[in-house]
Amino acid sequence: MTVRRSVIAGVGGYLPERVLGNAEIAARVDTSDAWIVERTGIRQRHIAADGQKTSDLAIEAARRALAHARIDAGEIDLIVLATATPDLTFPATAARVQAALGVTQGAAFDIQAVCSGFVFALATADNMLVRGQAKTALVIGAETFSRIVDWTDRGTCILFGDGAGAMVLRAEDTTPERGVIATFLRTDGRHHDLLYVDGGPSQTQTVGHLRMIGNAVFRQAVEHISGAMLEACRLGGVSIEDVDWFVPHQANQRILDGVARRLSISPDKIITTVAEHGNTSAASVPLALSVGVLDGRVKPGQLVLMEALGGGLTWGAALVRL
Ligand code: UT7
Repeated sequence: MTVRRSVIAGVGGYLPERVLGNAEIAARVDTSDAWIVERTGIRQRHIAADGQKTSDLAIEAARRALAHARIDAGEIDLIVLATATPDLTFPATAARVQAALGVTQGAAFDIQAVCSGFVFALATADNMLVRGQAKTALVIGAETFSRIVDWTDRGTCILFGDGAGAMVLRAEDTTPERGVIATFLRTDGRHHDLLYVDGGPSQTQTVGHLRMIGNAVFRQAVEHISGAMLEACRLGGVSIEDVDWFVPHQANQRILDGVARRLSISPDKIITTVAEHGNTSAASVPLALSVGVLDGRVKPGQLVLMEALGGGLTWGAALVRL
């Protein structure tokens, strides 16, 4: 039996050159390398150069994913870009990426689900490919959170970094066990105030800064992420034990450990980049996947479970076979 599936043809990631270590942050706010490492696992994060925009990061990640897939940009007929830090309020950052890649067909638009954005974008692109609305998609998560972080707030400025990750998806008639097998998305807007930006075009006419009640988000994270992972597995007809690699949103090492403990997942099946990348919001999942694929750990044919939770609150999971 063959079915139409979104098959993963390639992945790519890009991190800006500048690395910001914990010691440098500790010189600015009342914190320490020891506190940050113990409470988050983060040792460093990358920061976009002056003038380097979210679209610049996205374009580089997209080019790398296209090269990995050996696909010409001219074949792309859908770009779904997840970001909470667009270049401008409008048009979509995806439109800039489309033009820069020389793509002149199909649709390009942004998705806003903060740190869960890539999972939401992947689910959206998958549905469009399976419905025959496009043939070859670029799904991108790209962020410059350094622009919206309050660098005087030690509770948040230690966590975030800039970066982009991309995936090329191609619609193929194949066995049901390949490509995107199941996605699961949830939002609970009642938790708006736990994680938000205190600016925006309609409410304040400013860009604003990120505000978070970290420990309250933390408490929500382990439970919702674990639930989403189990649900994606149930929808895909597999069990957690069948999954070869877990590619989580990289928010905090303690969240990754908590989920692993709850679901009895061995740490050596988890791709972890939080120490080097920090939390890159919508970019973190595709960046981590590209690290795992490009260093040869995640191999063709293996079952991969991605997950994320972010502002909204939003959360979700995606089960794919490479
Ligand atoms: O990706 C989107 C989703 N976001 C997340 O998943 C983030 C989830 N939250 C977290 O990762 C953690 O809650 C944090 C890392 C943000 C904070 O860790 P925590 O263990 O939850 O600490 P806390 O907020 O409960 O604060 C404990 C103490 C407080 O001091 P008092 O009130 O006990 O005296 C804070 O003021 O730690 C203090 N603190 C710090 N101390 C040194 C908070 N930030 C810092 C800091 N350095 N950077």
